[in-house]
Amino acid sequence: MSTGFFSTEKIAFEGEDSRNPLAFRHYDPNEVVLGKRLEDHLRFACAYWHSFAWPGGDPFGGQTFDRPWFPDRMSDEMAAANLKADVAFEMFSALGVPYFCFHDGDVRPEGDSFSENTKNLNVIVDLFEKKMAVTGVKLLWGTANLFSHRRFMSGAATNPDPDVFAYSAATIKTCMDATHRLGGENYVLWGGREGYETLLNTDLAQEDQQMGRMLNMVVDYKHKIGFNGTILVEPKPQEPTKHQYDFDVATVYGFLKRHGLEKEVKVNIEQGHAILAGHTFEHELATATALGIFGSVDMNRNDYQSGWDTDQFPNNTPEVAMAYYHILKAGGLTTGGTNFDAKLRRQSLDPDDLLAGHIGAMDTCARGLKAAAAMMEDGGLQKALDDRYQRWTAPDAQKMLNGDLDLAQIAEKVIAEDINPEPSSGRQEILENYVNRFV
Ligand code: GLC
Ligand code: MN
Repeated sequence: MSTGFFSTEKIAFEGEDSRNPLAFRHYDPNEVVLGKRLEDHLRFACAYWHSFAWPGGDPFGGQTFDRPWFPDRMSDEMAAANLKADVAFEMFSALGVPYFCFHDGDVRPEGDSFSENTKNLNVIVDLFEKKMAVTGVKLLWGTANLFSHRRFMSGAATNPDPDVFAYSAATIKTCMDATHRLGGENYVLWGGREGYETLLNTDLAQEDQQMGRMLNMVVDYKHKIGFNGTILVEPKPQEPTKHQYDFDVATVYGFLKRHGLEKEVKVNIEQGHAILAGHTFEHELATATALGIFGSVDMNRNDYQSGWDTDQFPNNTPEVAMAYYHILKAGGLTTGGTNFDAKLRRQSLDPDDLLAGHIGAMDTCARGLKAAAAMMEDGGLQKALDDRYQRWTAPDAQKMLNGDLDLAQIAEKVIAEDINPEPSSGRQEILENYVNRFV
């Protein structure tokens, strides 16, 4: 039986001309693009935390949302966790998203001890197992919240206190177990407090060693329990810390290399985090695909003026189109997905605002993906790249690349052949105009 939290149990695809605010206008899960259903391309997921656990606070004010499962409305914490799960799965089903994602801390009450936390989590995992079987909703990824409780204030894996390292390792183990049990397709690590507030109290080399060890243990444990999902690290440059070690994709790649993990771990790239790092989303995606570590995306934007992580639903089709272009070019989302790590604005109080936020986001992504697919089919961007680098396919150019010629030999060649390069146009405006034809 429905809880009646939302005004509708199913959001339908009504097409572009629909004026119904609670209908899809561009996302028809069954539409076939490049030989694949849109649902299978996009692999949408909802984030449990923002929609169901976040009270609507900001740095200047507390709770704005009035949810029946919040502590001010329901004192029995396990009953509240159950009601929250009922509403969450009603939203996933109404939207028709194939996946969801959660942290342990979003779904179970915080107990007085590690064992109580694990016990609480397992009760909810049992419940999820049943709900997933009934609704067909799957788990894109699970993760551990190693940043909210005060014990993690100086980091989890990188904490100066080895007891916190141990507590974190144990928590990650239970969350990996839960993810494995629920058939999760990935496991995410976001090191929100793995960084520093001041270098005056921070030993960078020591903390790097701790973080490398933790991630190696995660990978070992994955193999030990036969978890076939992908381990993903999610970069972010700062906030809540002044500096976060997983700064951006390139920094994470360096870390993985240093600890021998570049073949085992991929990245979950969040649009908003890319902006905070002073990059574009496109840059982070292109970097990850070039390095062979692209895994999944958190498709939520930041406000470009605010300078902090606003986690808004995506609504910019051209930006999303270029993101999917890079994803399609790299072979698409494999175990990854499009997760909306997005929250409502704190004034959006109505339950149906949650539906509307996701509907708009899914429509934006569908439009973006279709535009990206059209660019792929047309092949114009690829042709421009092929043309631009064409001269590198010549045997003489290849010799410079593969080491057949060294610096001195190349210098001789420049003199002997009187090489005097003539620049050619980068054609940026032509390419920008080309993209605009599709978006
Ligand atoms: C936190 C971060 C979010 C990340 C999630 C998963 O909620 O804010 O960006 O995706 O943890 O670890
Ligand atoms: Mn995220």
